[in-house]
Amino acid sequence: MPSAIVTGAANGIGRATAERLAADGFAVAGLDIEPVELPGVRGMHCDMSELESFAAIVESVERELGPVEALANVAGIAVNETLADLTIAGYRRQLAVSLDGPIFLARAVGLRMAARGRGRIVNVTSVHAHHSEAAALAYGASKAGLEAATRVMAIELGPRGVLVNDVAPGFTNTRMSISEDGTNELDTEWFADVYQRYGKLPLRRAAEPPEIAATIAYLLSPANTYVTGTSVLVDGGLTATF
Ligand SMILES: NC(=O)c1ccc[n+]([C@@H]2O[C@H](COP(=O)([O-])OP(=O)(O)OC[C@H]3O[C@@H](n4cnc5c(N)ncnc54)[C@H](O)[C@@H]3O)[C@@H](O)[C@H]2O)c1
Repeated sequence: MPSAIVTGAANGIGRATAERLAADGFAVAGLDIEPVELPGVRGMHCDMSELESFAAIVESVERELGPVEALANVAGIAVNETLADLTIAGYRRQLAVSLDGPIFLARAVGLRMAARGRGRIVNVTSVHAHHSEAAALAYGASKAGLEAATRVMAIELGPRGVLVNDVAPGFTNTRMSISEDGTNELDTEWFADVYQRYGKLPLRRAAEPPEIAATIAYLLSPANTYVTGTSVLVDGGLTATF
């Protein structure tokens, strides 16, 4: 049985991806800073900002579950600071977790895959890689950076049998849409007006995590033989409108 690593597997899109890959026949290691409680998924503690820990974690996944053939870099945070309020700590934390971590984990796993001549990697970015809003400077920078890094990985690892892509979700129903004051942006008048009534969001609803996981799972599956170095939007048509 091939094995897979999914980061951010305790919640939201990562959890749905771990469940989906387990159902698709992978032996799945679910990495997170929170406990991963999913039947059929081996939970492991991993802080994406601790780059030096990755070699030992990947080593232990391969010892327990076998060679990793699929990596889904899903873990992420959203630091919402405006330009005026931007803190060095917030900015660095955002980039550490959402840019540095995925790059160095993909490097640790990707080089092993390349040595064996097979593997697939998906980095989860966001519509924020190309479209922006206030108070999302560090978040957008991390996602645009990860999209660029994805292309370079695809170019360098492609000749050695490793396919690398990113999946860019739009609005998705997870706890990430809940702000610090407890408001869920998907339940606001603004969301109902602009995205649903006015129709800025053609499908008129946020995605559920399994709908994002389905695209990630396809790109990580043996059925994907020729998609690499690209970004796949799963946004309900959001960025088709202006
Ligand atoms: N929800 C959305 O609307 C949306 C839209 C576009 C992109 N995304 C991206 O999807 C990914 C998953 O987000 P989600 O919506 O499922 O959010 P979520 O908060 O439900 O899940 C994120 C997971 O990442 C884990 N995590 C956070 N910091 C970590 C760290 N330092 N080390 C290891 N794990 C850590 C959390 O514990 C959590 O389990 C993120 O990269 C996010 O940027 C989400």
